[in-house]
Amino acid sequence: MSPQKNKAKPLNRKTILLALSGSIALYKSCDLLRNLKEAGAEVHCVMTAGAQKFISALTFQALSGHPVHTDPFDQNGDWAVLHTTLADKADLILVSPASANLIARMAGGMANDLVTSVVLASRAKVLLVPAMNDHMYTHPITQDNLKRLKQIGYQVVEPIEGELVCGRHSVGHIAENETIIKKVITVLK
Ligand SMILES: Cc1cc2nc3c(=O)[nH]c(=O)nc-3n(C[C@H](O)[C@H](O)[C@H](O)COP(=O)(O)O)c2cc1C
Repeated sequence: MSPQKNKAKPLNRKTILLALSGSIALYKSCDLLRNLKEAGAEVHCVMTAGAQKFISALTFQALSGHPVHTDPFDQNGDWAVLHTTLADKADLILVSPASANLIARMAGGMANDLVTSVVLASRAKVLLVPAMNDHMYTHPITQDNLKRLKQIGYQVVEPIEGELVCGRHSVGHIAENETIIKKVITVLK
């Protein structure tokens, strides 16, 4: 690729930590990761235990070109505190998809897995992309959790109406990847 073409990429020199949680919408994160890389970003992935039930870490490792981290206690032979190293590396933590469970854990200030530990240890911008069943999304507890996270400066790409895994056509469907990429570019400008 010519240096000129490289220069035009909107996410050049940006490091994005893509945090993946346990939602059926995870299948779209594979393309999202590719879109982020095409836009010039370096992408590293962290996964919750729930996310790994849906798609193996190997997929995101192959797509990102980097090891995928899932366990805060896995030092992988090198001495480095994994959650703080990852936290300091990122310009943006993109949580996509963000499950109801992960949103609740983040809003509660928990650090009970690698993803929540990294989020708490980081001062990077955080962009959440919720995806869930409409009743989970509109539940007052989820709405309160999202409100709390917005109050502390986290940004949200709101879910849209669409076909949900429960069979209903309702709100909770993950936003389109194009919308997410546009928001990432705006947030990192
Ligand atoms: C087939 C299936 C689809 C699911 N989809 C979602 C979803 O889209 N959003 C969500 O919040 N939870 C969803 N869940 C439930 C979560 O996977 C569950 O709450 C899990 O504990 C989330 O863990 P994590 O947030 O730590 O990844 C789904 C579960 C199953 C079995």
